[in-house]
Amino acid sequence: MTAALSYAAQIVAGLLFILALAGLSKHESARRGNAFGILGMALALVATIGLVITLNGLDALLMLLVAMLIGGAIGVHRAQRVEMTGMPELIALLHSFVGLAAVLVGFNSWIPTSGRPGHLDALERIHNGEVFLGIFIGAVTLTGSIVAFLKLSAKMKSAPLMLPHHNLVNLAALVVSLGLMVWFVPTGHAVPLVLMTVIALALGWHLVASIGGGDMPVVVSMLNSYSGWAAAAAGFMLSNDLLIITGALVGSSGAYLSYIMCRAMNRSFVSVIAGGFGSDGAVTGEERDYGDHRETSADEVASLLVEARSVVITPGYGMAVAQAQYGVADLAARLRERGVQVRFGIHPVAGRLPGHMNVLLAEAKVPYDIVLEMDEINEDLATTDVVLVIGANDTVNPAALDDPSSPIAGMPVLEVWHAHDVIVFKRSMSTGYAGVQNPLFFKDNTRMLFGDAKERVDDILKAL
Ligand code: TAP
Repeated sequence: MTAALSYAAQIVAGLLFILALAGLSKHESARRGNAFGILGMALALVATIGLVITLNGLDALLMLLVAMLIGGAIGVHRAQRVEMTGMPELIALLHSFVGLAAVLVGFNSWIPTSGRPGHLDALERIHNGEVFLGIFIGAVTLTGSIVAFLKLSAKMKSAPLMLPHHNLVNLAALVVSLGLMVWFVPTGHAVPLVLMTVIALALGWHLVASIGGGDMPVVVSMLNSYSGWAAAAAGFMLSNDLLIITGALVGSSGAYLSYIMCRAMNRSFVSVIAGGFGSDGAVTGEERDYGDHRETSADEVASLLVEARSVVITPGYGMAVAQAQYGVADLAARLRERGVQVRFGIHPVAGRLPGHMNVLLAEAKVPYDIVLEMDEINEDLATTDVVLVIGANDTVNPAALDDPSSPIAGMPVLEVWHAHDVIVFKRSMSTGYAGVQNPLFFKDNTRMLFGDAKERVDDILKAL
C-alpha cells in the first residue's frame, strides 16, 4: 500500500466514525452506527499497518503484530468476563490506558529536541507545545481515570475528598503548569516537563477524588472526553491525522455527553469539575425517622396489576443486578395482552452507565415506543394506577426535590409517588448508590416487595 493510499483510507475511516456516531444517536439506527464504527476501525487498522510497512519495512510489522496479539488477547479476555454492571469501571480503566499512552508518546517524541535547549526553531517550539499539552492532558486522564475506577468498583470510598481550599489547590496547579510551559516551549528543558508531569498526575487524582459518588456518571463521561483530547494530542505529536480526527470526535462527543448529563442531574458543569458538590453539610437521611414501611406479596401485586388500567415500570440498577429484564418484558407483554396500558419510565442516570436501562430493555425485546424518557412520563404519573419500581432507588427519591440538605438535592427524579399505588422491588431497606435514605419507601401509597427482583417478577408471572 502506498503512503497516499493509506492517508486516503484514514480519511474514509474518519468519515465512517462520524457516520457511526450519527447512527448511535438513535435506537433505530444504532445497529447501523455500530456497523459503520466496526468498518471504520477495520479500515483504520489496515491503513495503519499499510503505512507502517511502507515507512518502516516488514520488521516493524512483526513488532506491530506481536503488540496487537497481546493487546487483543487481553481485550477479548476482559470483555468476555465483564458483567454489564461492571462496564463503567472497565471503561474508566481503559481511559487510563489512553492517558498513559499519551504520556508515553509525549516523552518519546520529546527526546530528539531535548539536547539543544535555547536553539529551537519555530516548528520545534510548536512541537514542544504539543508535547507539553499532550503529556499534561494524558497525565490528568491517567490518574483521574484510576481514581474513577477505584471509586466505581468500591475499592475506594465514593464520598468526596475535601481538602481545605481544594479549588485553590487546583487553580494553583494550573497556574504553575502554565508557568512551566512558558519555560519548556522555547527550551525543551527536562525539568519543567518532569515537574509538570508530577503536578498533572496529582491534579488528576485530586480532581476526581474530590467528586462525590452521585456525580460519578458525569465524571466517567468527562474522563471519556479527556481521553479523546489526549489521543488527539498524541495524534499531533505523531503527525497522525486519523488519531487527531478520532481523538477530537471522542473528546467533543464526551464533552457533549457530560453537558447532557449535567443538565439531566441539574448540576452545573463547573460545580461538578470543582468537586465536592452537595457535600457541605449534606444529610444522608439515615438518622431521620420516616415512620414505618409496609410490605406486600407477589400474589397481592398480581391482583393489583390485573385490576389496573395503566401501569408504569421504572427500572434501576437492581434490575441489572438481578438480570430481571426478561421477566419484566414478559410481565409487560402479559399485561398488555390483557388490555392494560404499560409503559416504561427511564431516568437518564438509572443504572451505572448512560443508556444502561435502554440497552437491557432492548435486549429483552421491549418495544421502543413504550419506553419513555423521564420528562415524557413524569406528568402522566399522577393519572397512573400502579408504578412498579424495579431495583431503582436514587432515581425515584422525593428527597431530591423536597430536601435541600440532601446530597442529591436538585436532581430531577421520576415522581412515582404521585401514582395511585407504588410497588418497590428490592431486597432490603438499604440505600442506593448515593447512600441516601429514600422517603418514598415510607409513603402511604407505597408497598415494599422484598427479595431478588427476578425471583419476585417470576412469582408475579406465576400468580397471573
Ligand atoms: P440505585 O440508587 O443504585 O439503587 C439500586 C437499588 O437496587 C438498591 O437500593 C438495591 O437495594 C437494589 N438492588 C440491588 N440488587 C438487587 C436485586 N438483585 N434485586 C432487587 N433489588 C436490587 O439505582 P438507580 O435508581 O438506578 O440510580 C442510579 C444511581 O447510580 C444514581 O445515584 C446515579 O447517579 C449513579 N450512577 C449512575 C451512572 C450512570 S451513567 N447511569 C454511573 C455511575 C453512578 P437492595 O440492596 O436493598 O436490594
